[in-house]
Amino acid sequence: MNKPIVEIAGTGRYTPERILTNEDLSKMVTTSDEWITERTGIKERRISSDTETLAYMGRIAAEQALEEAGLAADQIDTILFATASPDRLLPSTACDLQAALGAENAAAMDIGAACSGFIFAVTVAEGMISSGKAKNVLVIGGERLSRIVDYEDRSTCILFGDGVGAAIVRPATGDRGVVSTYLKSDGRLAELLWRPAGGSSIPASAESVEDKSIYMQMAGPEVFKHAVKSMTDACDRAMEMAGLTGDDIDVMIPHQANVRIIKATAKHAGMPMEKVVVNVDRFGNTSAASIPIALDEQIRAGTIKKGDTVLLVAFGAGFTWGSMVVKW
Ligand code: UT7
Repeated sequence: MNKPIVEIAGTGRYTPERILTNEDLSKMVTTSDEWITERTGIKERRISSDTETLAYMGRIAAEQALEEAGLAADQIDTILFATASPDRLLPSTACDLQAALGAENAAAMDIGAACSGFIFAVTVAEGMISSGKAKNVLVIGGERLSRIVDYEDRSTCILFGDGVGAAIVRPATGDRGVVSTYLKSDGRLAELLWRPAGGSSIPASAESVEDKSIYMQMAGPEVFKHAVKSMTDACDRAMEMAGLTGDDIDVMIPHQANVRIIKATAKHAGMPMEKVVVNVDRFGNTSAASIPIALDEQIRAGTIKKGDTVLLVAFGAGFTWGSMVVKW
């Protein structure tokens, strides 16, 4: 196995208090608990209140991660906030979080790689640390997708939820840490999963609200096929680069979009479901937050233990996809 450059020294998470169940959704659009459960595996998702901003949720998750790593906020030199639903378009949510956290010595920026954002951001952190530009990096994956979902569109509103996960990435001191990463994108397929308006090409307007282009739109079955293919390939790449096979992996954490995507990816990658983490039933698809939330849950539950080999894999809008093997 490659010698790691960075390790994940602490993790944290925050998920909003409010739960939106399938039953609740069936009163809002023509759907049912049975359909949502069978097609997606989702039973409920968390929805942020007006005060549960990304900066607010991020601060709580970051403080847990800092405590685990034995660091104070002013020891963080870089904040990377992976999100597709920033609190504002300008300035970055990372800057808002920096202020909320009191991380006065940090440089802060957002990373846009949708559901793959956490893996992309950890890889950027690895590069910055490797080149001597950073030492203690706070990586956050966080979303408030409920704010950009059309709650009249049953094909998307049942899927998404809100939440934040955090990790401290710092130089590895031994064999523990990130042993391989793989990142890939295909911008030609952007319109299969996108939010057409709200940026500078189609600014937010009464018209973009009226025609709903301000909301996320997805060609579900197409995205499904690409997700399975790309995540399967990404699993193979990260394991190959680490010199490992599926048998060497103790825990696999796939992006939580749909339990059928997770099962198909695991099957193609030859990974038994006993090794695969699933929490999509409780949180739905939280995009960039799904992997760090699941990671933190597993670490705190003791399911990921010292010495374990963990495979992370994600796929999202862009399209973007990526994977990472981490020795715990
Ligand atoms: O985060 C990474 C990106 N996202 C994903 O990876 C998500 C990828 N896609 C999916 O997970 C699935 O495609 C969905 C869950 C979005 C949809 O499931 P599906 O099995 O692909 O359903 P479908 O879109 O092919 O729709 C089948 C039927 C349609 O009705 P007709 O045309 O057969 O009469 C839909 O109108 O199900 C209907 N339908 C619904 N019915 C009840 C779509 N949404 C719903 C709903 N409740 N919520």
